[in-house]
Amino acid sequence: MSDWLSFWNSPNRIYVNELHRDVHYRDVALQIRSFVPSNTATVIDYGCGESIHADLVAGAAGKLILSDGADAVRDFLAKRFAHVPNISVLSPAEIAALPPGSIDLIVLNSVSQYLKQAELEALLATFRKLLAPTGTLVVGDVLPPHTNALTEVGALMKLAYANGFVLAAFGGLARTLFSEYRKLRSSLGLTHHTEADMMATLARAGFRAQRRYPNIEHNQARMTFLARLA
Ligand SMILES: C[S@@+](CC[C@H](N)C(=O)[O-])C[C@H]1O[C@@H](n2cnc3c(N)ncnc32)[C@H](O)[C@@H]1O
Repeated sequence: MSDWLSFWNSPNRIYVNELHRDVHYRDVALQIRSFVPSNTATVIDYGCGESIHADLVAGAAGKLILSDGADAVRDFLAKRFAHVPNISVLSPAEIAALPPGSIDLIVLNSVSQYLKQAELEALLATFRKLLAPTGTLVVGDVLPPHTNALTEVGALMKLAYANGFVLAAFGGLARTLFSEYRKLRSSLGLTHHTEADMMATLARAGFRAQRRYPNIEHNQARMTFLARLA
């Protein structure tokens, strides 16, 4: 496997079990829902992954657009939400072709680590074009340089303890040692950003940004930013 999108396009065991997957996507959906400005808002969840609880977001919005670079993920989502009239699933190219100024909220959660700086900047330029003047961009779960395996393990175990999957989490961690994810992480690497770097990148892309506490996800060593058009 030579790139991250190929990884996300193939079956993977990134979650330690079904309960972990369920808890993860429910938490993320509830967080995204809290950012939806009104029940007529048009929302994009970009790099949304399997987002199995996206209906919780759609229930609070006028329209929810799910987009992911992995074809297999989009196929999964299109089937899962075929019955939800205000959810659509679009490719990144289809997102780029949406009318300028037509989107009220864009969420990019836990994706920036898989993008090179130039890819992130190109994406931010697209988001800037798509956002309505009063719109908000949320960039979540950004990896800072100082994050380490111990912090990641600690955050996972805390989540597992709170949700009753501690044993599975130990098993998942053992599996991770030999996983494709770990191999790719050491061959391709992940992109890290300091808080100042991400603020500067957002400013260069034409956004006024601020750090948002807490981070969207469970690992509070990672960062979330809220950005509006400058
Ligand atoms: C860690 S998952 C995050 C999923 C979801 N946003 C969440 O919060 O759980 C990363 C997702 O980003 C997608 N992704 C990675 N690189 C991408 C790119 N260049 N364009 C669009 N999606 C991408 C992957 O396919 C994967 O589904």
